[in-house]
Parts: sequence; structure tokens; C-alpha cells
Amino acid sequence: MSKSLQRIGVLTGGGDCPGLNAVIRAVAKSALNRHSIEVFGIEDGFLGLIQNRVHRLEQADVSNILTLGGTILGTSNKADPSRYPVRRADGRVEFQDVTDRCLEHIEQRHLDALVVIGGDGTMTVASNLVSLGVPCVGVPKTIDNDLVGTDVTFGFQTAVSIATEALDRVHTTAASHHRAIVVEVMGRNAGWIALHAGVASGADVILLPEIPYSLETVCDFVRARSRHGKRFSILCVSEGARPRDGEQVVARRDPLSPEPVRLGGIGQKVAEDIEAACSIETRSIVLGHVQRGGTPIAADRVLATEFGYAAIDRVVGGETGCLVVMKGRTVGQVPLTEVAGKQRTIPIDHPLVAAARDVGTCFGE
Ligand code: F6P
Repeated sequence: MSKSLQRIGVLTGGGDCPGLNAVIRAVAKSALNRHSIEVFGIEDGFLGLIQNRVHRLEQADVSNILTLGGTILGTSNKADPSRYPVRRADGRVEFQDVTDRCLEHIEQRHLDALVVIGGDGTMTVASNLVSLGVPCVGVPKTIDNDLVGTDVTFGFQTAVSIATEALDRVHTTAASHHRAIVVEVMGRNAGWIALHAGVASGADVILLPEIPYSLETVCDFVRARSRHGKRFSILCVSEGARPRDGEQVVARRDPLSPEPVRLGGIGQKVAEDIEAACSIETRSIVLGHVQRGGTPIAADRVLATEFGYAAIDRVVGGETGCLVVMKGRTVGQVPLTEVAGKQRTIPIDHPLVAAARDVGTCFGE
């Protein structure tokens, strides 16, 4: 260990996600127990760095949090220091670059390195800090599984298992009442949750952002099922899905957020279109934040622990400016510059898409 490495900061940025506390625990315990490095929790993501809200993490703070959902540090998805919203006296909001404030606070708190747990937005900020001389190591978080460089992000498998259970549970009502039921899942512009939960639950139709759908194809499929005695259909629809001749459905815009668009509503549209075209009673459900809530499943607790350990390993070894990643079953790292501002969507020739087609799933192509 380099002699100058005595204190590190840890923060969680972006939306909450199952496994955040498991990573914080692994980072803090590994730093405290193995390397005698002091650990400081930065509150509410980069907002805490901008506002100098930082507190020491002791053993007791990170004990008994492995299974806990959310983040004990708090988080924010509106705190990009290079574009920080400030309300002026006249009530209007202007964006200021307050990165210098972050650098000042890092210096004031004597933080030798940061472990930054987040998605692509958080990694973009971290990459900028690295270019200004702050040693940072990223840990890939998001239920969307859309970070480049890693096969899997922590939180994703929990979201898939929650969505799968929901899809399994609507099966009984769909079959008993001879209905179509549409379940809209999260994922932004990547259909990983829909693809995995759809395959795991045997959904009849899976609609993904990566494969714009034809309503006619979906309706022909639903009608054909009815003709063959399957008088119900389960549709797993990603919030980012869109018809071939249409746009994504935007639920709201948050002008203060670096990523203002919040998707949502395509499930309801698909349900209305199917009911009108196929004369089958149809319902839609939006799973929403349920997919991000509660305790992480075992696989995410394990992954979070591996990632937290690896992050400290990289910090101590002086290998900063990187994101720890999982490739196959091996933990590695990629430069933050290769990750910042990018999204990993599903390649349309992905083997799981091919496998789903072969077991009879309709993608609306
Ligand atoms: O990135 C995680 C995610 O849950 C997306 O799947 C979803 O589109 C978005 O965040 C929702 O954001 P918010 O919590 O701001 O509504």
C-alpha cells in the first residue's frame, strides 16, 4: 500500500438499486480490516461532495447492512457538478460548473481516493474528476444492466427476479379470465430486464427498445394463440419499447436531471391497441420502482461483495481511473473513459433473443 493512502471517500450516485449497501459494506470492511484505511461516506452522491456533507464510516455503520435495500449514504440523480442547478433570486434555475467545490472538499477532507458506485451518469462525473487528478475507482450499479465493459451490473439480477415473479403471478388471472396481460418493466433504452424476465417467465411476447415492434405482428400472434386454444397471452414490455412507426412513450421530464427523460406508458398503449384490434380483454401493469426496492437476491449480494473488494484492491494497488467489471466469472477493470456517457443495449443477434425465438416467443418483428 502506498504510504500516502490513508483516507478514502465512498459515494452512491444515480437511482437506488438492490446491493448498494452490500457494496458499501464490502468497501468499508475491506479498507478498515485489511488495509487500516479510514473510510468516509459522502452523502447523497455528488451532491454531498458539492455541499461538503461527508461523515466517517466505522465498523458499526456498515454492520448488518448486507441485506438492506436502498443506500445508507443516500443518493441523488440531479448532482452533476459540471451542470449543477442553482435557483436565482428571480426564481429561475441556472446551471453552474461547481467542480472546483468538489476538489476543494476532497482536499479539505484529505480524501486520497474515491470509490464511486453508480451507473453511466455517475461514471461520467467520475471520469471528469479523474482527468482533474482525483483517483477514482467505479463500481457498476444499475438494475438496467446497461453499463459498457461489464457483463453484469449489481442490482440487475434482483430486478429480473422481481419482474419474473410478477409475470408468473399474472399468469393465473390471464389464463382463468382469458385475458391478455401486459407487464411494463424498467430498463431505459436497454431491454435487458424485459428479455431476461420475459424468458424466465415464458412470456408469450417480449417487446424491447432494440427491436421496434409491428402491432400487426403482435396482434396476429395473440389471435393465433386464441385459435389454438390458448385464450390468454402474457406480454413483457420494456419501458423503452416503441412501435416501428412510432416513438418511445415519455412519462415525465425532469429538467433538473442530467438525463431529463423518464420513460413509461408504453405498456398501457400496447394493452389498449391489443384490446381494440384483437377483441380480447386486456389489462396492463407497470412494475416501476418495485423492481429497485427491497433486499438484493443472493447473487447480487455476492456480486456486490466481489465488486467492493475489487474496488479497494484497485485503490490500494494504485490502479485508479477504472471501473471494476465482471467478464464471464472473472473480475477485471476497464478505463472509466471507455464507459463514460455510453449505454450497453442488447445486440439484436444476442443468443438469448435467438433462444427465445426458438421457444416460440414473439418479439413483434
Ligand atoms: O436507471 C434505473 C431506472 O430505474 C430506469 O430503469 C428508469 O427508467 C429510471 O431509473 C427511473 O428513474 P426515476 O427513479 O428518476 O423515476
